[in-house]
Amino acid sequence: MDNSASLRIGDNEIELPLIVGSEDEHAVDTRTLRARSGFVTFDEGYGNTGSCLSKITFVDGEKGILRYCGYPIEQLAEKSNFLEVAFLTIYGELPDQDKADNFREKVLRSTNLHVSMERHFEGFPGNSHPMAVLSAMLNSLGCYYPDMASNNRQQDLEHFDNAAAVLISKVRTIAAMSYRTKMGLPFNYPDNELGYSGNFLHMMFSQPHHPYIASPEVAHALNLFLLLHADHEQNCSTSTVRMVASGGANLFASVASGVCALWGPLHGGANMAVIKMLEEIQKTGDDGSKFLDEVKDGNKKLMGFGHRVYKNFDPRANILAQAAERLFASLGSQDSLLDIARHLADAALHQDYFIERKLYPNVDFYSGIILKAIGIPLDMFTVMFAIGRMPGWIAHWKELAENPKGRIHRPRQIYMGANQRDYLPIEERD
Ligand code: CMC
Repeated sequence: MDNSASLRIGDNEIELPLIVGSEDEHAVDTRTLRARSGFVTFDEGYGNTGSCLSKITFVDGEKGILRYCGYPIEQLAEKSNFLEVAFLTIYGELPDQDKADNFREKVLRSTNLHVSMERHFEGFPGNSHPMAVLSAMLNSLGCYYPDMASNNRQQDLEHFDNAAAVLISKVRTIAAMSYRTKMGLPFNYPDNELGYSGNFLHMMFSQPHHPYIASPEVAHALNLFLLLHADHEQNCSTSTVRMVASGGANLFASVASGVCALWGPLHGGANMAVIKMLEEIQKTGDDGSKFLDEVKDGNKKLMGFGHRVYKNFDPRANILAQAAERLFASLGSQDSLLDIARHLADAALHQDYFIERKLYPNVDFYSGIILKAIGIPLDMFTVMFAIGRMPGWIAHWKELAENPKGRIHRPRQIYMGANQRDYLPIEERD
């Protein structure tokens, strides 16, 4: 194939270079198009736009492939753990033993919050949504670490390793403390003898004289949930982090904006919406069939289904479907919501509406069932997604910040509003 594409606009023929990615993905480089022709490209929703060159995550939506830095998600899910995957996405390589120990030590050492930061929780009304609290608290972390949050790119990069560890560690503490505050319960201080997931569950659920010790199966399920969410290339929240960072904002401010972007029901809020949907179906006594008819009539959305990129299957959903079965077997319990979910998935996968639109279960379809089984309250589900996605946001901030040729993100628009008109004083207006 030639290494350029030609675009004819009227009599003007413009040669545009091609870019080929390391997995043979092809792109037309339109960066000079406007300067050479006066035209811009229009791609609302960015479904057809490569916004950056990235080395972190590869997704092939047609084939259902997801790899972090080259490693297939299936291998990482089976053999790795969340902290190792966090290191991989941020630094691009799996750590050797020394690096793994150092990273773990740095993360575990950073668990506590400054005592005056703990008091911020008291300032939020009791019914505050934990995603609002999380975003505010992550941003305010920058006030406690001003050296790491200077908005001076070189300085912020010099402190990057510590800032990354602070965020990966404290996002858990903040999440657990916001839950405890909302429930009117005293804080549980971190127990650094526990692993990453076990410590989080202790901070959430331990009671005086009744420490919560997560079973290995529960800790494993949570670890898997976090690992599978660690990164997913240019999704809504990660693109937001990159957008904010492109203006020179520090890491704390950038990831706080990622939390806001993640909150919506079409993105990270979907795991919560799936459980609400399954509970609604359960209440009506439907096995899911009537609900699917309403989806096909365009009156409802099947939450946890469909994806902008995956058009075959989402490998994370397959891993989590199996993990849900294993977790229930280990707990010796069942959840009738899982039966409804199974029925919905089986039925939808055989119906023309879903087949024609290439709609498959996505990561959120089963993740909520796992979180519910672990005892995580519904309004904390998206917070759990944020804890998992933190390494990805950090990795993308670093990749962008280290690019000496990086430019501020500033898309164009096609203006469709009124043409120029004259201002009239109020008494002369119709
Ligand atoms: N239920 C019913 N119909 C759907 C669904 C769904 N979940 N998803 C897409 N469709 C239909 C949509 O109505 C459209 O139909 P038509 O061509 O007749 O107008 C067609 O499928 C194409 O959908 P789209 O809205 O153009 O697709 P998109 O790429 O813009 O949206 C999505 C992707 C994930 C926002 C969407 O599939 C959706 O809303 N899914 C439910 C919410 C959800 O589960 N979100 C979590 C995504 S995975 C985690 C993450 O990365 O955040």
